[in-house]
Amino acid sequence: MSTILVNGGRVLTGTARVSGAKNSALKLMAAALLAPGASVIRNVPDITDVAVMADVLRHLGATVTRHGHTLTIDATGVADVEAPYELVAQMRASIVVLGPLVARFGRARVAMPGGCNIGSRKIDMHVSGLERLGAEIAFEHGFIEATAPSGLTGADVILDFPSVGATENLLMAAVLARGTTVIDNAAREPEIGDLVDMLVAMGARIEGRGTATLTVEGVEALAPAEHATIGDRIEAGTLLAAGAITGGEVTVTGFEPMHLEMVLAKMVRAGCAFEILPDGATVRRTGPLGAVDVATLPFPGFPTDMQAQFMAMMAIADGSCVITENVFENRFMFADELKRMGADIDIEGHRAIVRGVERLEGAPVRSPDLRGGAALVLAGLAAEGETRVTDIHHILRGYEGLTGKLAALGADVRIAED
Ligand code: UD1
Repeated sequence: MSTILVNGGRVLTGTARVSGAKNSALKLMAAALLAPGASVIRNVPDITDVAVMADVLRHLGATVTRHGHTLTIDATGVADVEAPYELVAQMRASIVVLGPLVARFGRARVAMPGGCNIGSRKIDMHVSGLERLGAEIAFEHGFIEATAPSGLTGADVILDFPSVGATENLLMAAVLARGTTVIDNAAREPEIGDLVDMLVAMGARIEGRGTATLTVEGVEALAPAEHATIGDRIEAGTLLAAGAITGGEVTVTGFEPMHLEMVLAKMVRAGCAFEILPDGATVRRTGPLGAVDVATLPFPGFPTDMQAQFMAMMAIADGSCVITENVFENRFMFADELKRMGADIDIEGHRAIVRGVERLEGAPVRSPDLRGGAALVLAGLAAEGETRVTDIHHILRGYEGLTGKLAALGADVRIAED
């Protein structure tokens, strides 16, 4: 069992480069299933979630090879259409193989997903959307089975909520359906634009990229493609927050700053200054952090994946604020751990009232999930003394070399193997 050890109090300075976006790469890998032949995906982060998705694809019969940050996925030999429980339970995002498998093979069986424990995380929109495209869905023995023996047919789908995963699953199903599919109230996260770009490179016909209405003209077949993953905006936000929480000056490169517009706007209100670069941003903080309310919303709103890291900053801000979580239930688990470090936080339903304290104290804490774990590391950077973060497998699922990148910025942080 490894832990992350942080000795707080260092001011971070310097430059860090983000890896490719986890939430993009996983879906780009699933998209490779849509065409026989070898697709090449560059800028793929070296994280556990990607390794799990590679195992899912291998289980299905694809060959997956990694050279540095480039993955080659040859989906020619895909013969099985079942994603087993042992793999799906490790990573909920495996559900996105459902759409491409049923689109290409007319059949898919995927174990009911597990993953981060941050709410009930239903899949009803994935299911009803695929049904609209003509798939028959059955739930049996813990599996979702989708069948469409004579192929999928385009249809109009209106999502109840702009779900990222449902939008992606439906997109990957619709590209090989007969006729036109319109996905309305589609999620607009940048990772979906990245998926659209890869699908278009494979020969898909999609309009409305970046908007809430995606129109897909189904095509007979797709071809493999080469594509580079966008930079990870959430990793970028986390590293910028590390600069801000320690009162330093940190440049983060390798991502599109417009993808982080709302986060940067909130950080400016909290007293940070930014310089926007062509492929990144520099954060600088000269005065104390101020308290700022945030409410998470689908893109372009404040990302739920930055909520915990922002709360860590607000824990030492001057004044009180309200952080509202609108996307997931049960995403404040890390707040109890933060309180063990001296934070003053009250949770009322989906709102957290955070009263800034003068300083946090290092403490042993447990990482409850991916972003909550990252937030505890950030809190440790600003805390007095040593913070020992356990259950770091959550953090390793989604951050490539987080401790190394922070250490290169001057943090006293390392992974300790017990
Ligand atoms: C993705 C991201 C995750 C991010 C989230 C929101 C990946 C691998 N994960 O998760 O990091 O926090 O987007 O930006 O890309 N919902 C339903 N029914 C459904 C689908 C979703 O009720 O069929 C609900 C969920 O329970 C949740 C909300 O919709 O409350 C948002 O979920 P969704 O946008 O689907 O998130 P994910 O794709 O799971």
